[in-house]
Amino acid sequence: MAVGKHLIIANWKMNLTIHEGSLLVHRLDESSKNHRNVEVVLAPGFLSLQSLSLQIDHAKYKLAAQNCYWRDEGAFTGEVSVHQLRGLVDYVLVGHSERRHIFNERGREIGRKVQAAVRHELKPVLCVGETAMERQDSETNDVLHDQLVSGLANVTSEDMKHVVIAYEPVWAIGTGSNAIPQDVERAAEMIRRQIRHMFGKTVADETPILYGGSVTSDNARAYLDTQGVNGLLVGGASLHPEQFANIIAHAHKSLTAKK
Ligand code: PGA
Repeated sequence: MAVGKHLIIANWKMNLTIHEGSLLVHRLDESSKNHRNVEVVLAPGFLSLQSLSLQIDHAKYKLAAQNCYWRDEGAFTGEVSVHQLRGLVDYVLVGHSERRHIFNERGREIGRKVQAAVRHELKPVLCVGETAMERQDSETNDVLHDQLVSGLANVTSEDMKHVVIAYEPVWAIGTGSNAIPQDVERAAEMIRRQIRHMFGKTVADETPILYGGSVTSDNARAYLDTQGVNGLLVGGASLHPEQFANIIAHAHKSLTAKK
């Protein structure tokens, strides 16, 4: 995805049945338009991917998986591999803070998932962000550095064309206490600096960086207008079709206003 376009991802998490998800997309369709400068991605639970892929207009929406396993196949009960997702989704979330903190995913494993995604030509959305405690201890930059180094290990500059980074401070996710745009700008700058260090300026300039954490239709525009931010990863608000449609409209207007 080229920078100059906004990427808006709906992370439904473990919500909605297949039927409810289908209804939500139907309602979203009624309230949102297709904008060439906005890529809208839906990340439902695994069970909904197949039916939504038949339902959606692929020019209007892309699909993402919320997680994946890095091995292609084998005795890994309960896991879904990138190899199995190929052809069904364009994107895959990797290292979401709920995966890191509830399911104990570690840097090395997250890095392997990123590598598996690019190997299978899916776009990994590598999620990074500090906890409240780490923020309090002024460790944000160190945490972002470590998560980027392990998450992007063995990834080439060529692979980076498909990688998206989502900055999601853990304390802002699902809490209603969203980060202030100045902090997001600083974090995005730090992330780009680290990518420049690892892959060079061109890659750093072209890597989309998203913000996520208690985004609503009321605060979305402020992030979309923030320097260095190329889109949003939306959890709770993406379960409300009118609200999510407004966020999409904000993304379109934000880029149109910049012209
Ligand atoms: P939230 O979730 O918008 O509900 O805070 C964001 C996310 O976890 O991706």
